[in-house]
Amino acid sequence: MDKQTKILILGAKGMLGQDLVKILADFSLTLWDKGEIDITDQNMVDKKITALNPQIIINCAAYTAVDNCEIHKDLALQLNNQAVGYLAFCAKRIGAILVHISTDYVFNGQNVKGYSEDSQEFGPVNFYGESKLSGEKTLKNIGGKYYLIRTSWIYGKNGKNFVETMLKLGAEQKEVRVVNDQFGKPTYAVDWRLSCN
Ligand SMILES: NC(=O)c1ccc[n+]([C@@H]2O[C@H](COP(=O)([O-])OP(=O)(O)OC[C@H]3O[C@@H](n4cnc5c(N)ncnc54)[C@H](OP(=O)(O)O)[C@@H]3O)[C@@H](O)[C@H]2O)c1
Repeated sequence: MDKQTKILILGAKGMLGQDLVKILADFSLTLWDKGEIDITDQNMVDKKITALNPQIIINCAAYTAVDNCEIHKDLALQLNNQAVGYLAFCAKRIGAILVHISTDYVFNGQNVKGYSEDSQEFGPVNFYGESKLSGEKTLKNIGGKYYLIRTSWIYGKNGKNFVETMLKLGAEQKEVRVVNDQFGKPTYAVDWRLSCN
């Protein structure tokens, strides 16, 4: 990738966003979070992103509070589905590549062998997964140039995450009690460096 490549990172202050900013520091970056753009506002998305004219848009912005998604379903859909559509339309119109982040929660979790990229065994177990799956479908329907990346249990240098919580509890308590009915593969946000080279 050319160092002049103009990359827009949305959700730049989030857990993944903050690490990506460091990983991609050599490129021509624009860093936007809630203060700079509301991705649920289609007019704003069109106006601001068209004016910026990036070659690559990396969407790390989302409604990620998994439990709250059950209560604020509209908000979850606005961010994790509708807004993805606004970004996809805009990216397609200006010819930018949209890199969108999704989750293993789009699957039902029953397949012990794991899931391939083209697996159709969808079946989100919660509304967060449901809203992210809707976003994937919206993105695929609109098309254009895009990468859809599914990841899981991200932990990084910033933000609240499982690894950090366990380290904190381990340091504070003699014995740590944790649920034993959830399985996942922690993904180190900084490892994105490998795929960005
Ligand atoms: N964390 C994980 O374990 C995990 C696992 C699988 C997939 N993912 C996916 O990976 C991506 C990044 O996750 P993350 O954990 O880094 O998320 P995060 O820490 O919650 O960051 C999301 C960022 O988006 C911002 N944002 C919220 N509403 C916005 C809006 N309307 N317009 C613009 N920006 C807005 C948030 O600002 P505020 O904080 O101020 O609301 C926050 O800075 C998401 O798509 C997520 O679904 C994450």
